[in-house]
Amino acid sequence: MKNTRPWWLYILITFFVVFGLMEYFIDSGDKPAIIEYPITQFFLFVILLLLIAVALILQSVENITFLSMSKEAQERYLSAKSKGWEWKWGNRVYQSLLGSKPVEAEGEIILDHNYDGIRELDNKLPPWWVYMFYATIIFGVAYLVRFHIMNDYDQDLEYEQEVAAAQLEIEEYKRTAKDLVDVNTVVLLTDASDLNAGKAIFETSCVACHMADGGGGIGPNLADANWILGGGIKNVFNTISEGGRDGKGMVAWKQSLKPAEMAQVASYVLSFQGTTPANPKAAEGDVWVDPDKSETEMPKAEKDSTAVVTDSTSVALN
Ligand code: HEC
Repeated sequence: MKNTRPWWLYILITFFVVFGLMEYFIDSGDKPAIIEYPITQFFLFVILLLLIAVALILQSVENITFLSMSKEAQERYLSAKSKGWEWKWGNRVYQSLLGSKPVEAEGEIILDHNYDGIRELDNKLPPWWVYMFYATIIFGVAYLVRFHIMNDYDQDLEYEQEVAAAQLEIEEYKRTAKDLVDVNTVVLLTDASDLNAGKAIFETSCVACHMADGGGGIGPNLADANWILGGGIKNVFNTISEGGRDGKGMVAWKQSLKPAEMAQVASYVLSFQGTTPANPKAAEGDVWVDPDKSETEMPKAEKDSTAVVTDSTSVALN
């Protein structure tokens, strides 16, 4: 028996719809669910079997019904089937959107005048066009009232709002993206993993001049409270990033270290504070006092807010 549309097409479409829905609803992180959870492969396989079974059953039901019909009914059935499929509703809507008269009815709308045999049809404007025109009028009135009479908002304000929103997004992004730390946003890292990473960097790049315990050699002592270029995480980060004074030997490390790595090694350097190196170099520079921490008579609220910026220089004070 002839079928106008291949049965396997339905199976394929349904199968991929199920597959798509499954991927959409199962939260499987970066990987597709079908790889993350192998059980879903089994699930899809069962679905496929079911779909094939349903298609086979439907076909045999159709066959049986066909065989049990009278000759006449069989012919009617076949001719109905071969007629194919037509989207009646869509067709009707399409016609009504055009609003034009069928050719047979043109006699009703032909105009009286006749220019050398050329005559004119009084066709109506297509409804889709007319309604769109009305819609623009309504929109125009609403727009005029809202923006020119009530002065709701203008482009400048819109621009400012968008810039402000984008600024917030940038700040949020910077907070979460580690490698975007800079001298303004860097904070002292206290996680063991960060300090260990900092230690590893220090041991490969810095011990030659600062010694493994920070006691100093070519470079100054990093374990004492005296700093040439300023203590505290921000200054130390800045020194590592930009280097020391010209000709002293401390290069700018921003070329070879990522911002996150500089934050790690800066935090590690500050962990020397309060320790006593084996061969400490004499103190150079001034004793660093964190301006945020120096005032003991700070109002409580302010104290709390600065307490977030943990700084190992405060270890000595506590
Ligand atoms: C070639 C030798 C050398 C190497 C390698 C070196 N430094 Fe230095 N470092 C110095 C010198 C010299 C100074 C003093 C700079 C000055 O006086 O301007 C210094 C200063 C510093 C300071 C500031 C100290 C203060 O008292 O203000 C810090 C922090 C620092 N180094 C950290 C590091 C780190 C971290 C590394 C490894 C990534 C490193 N240094 C690698 C030679 C070195």
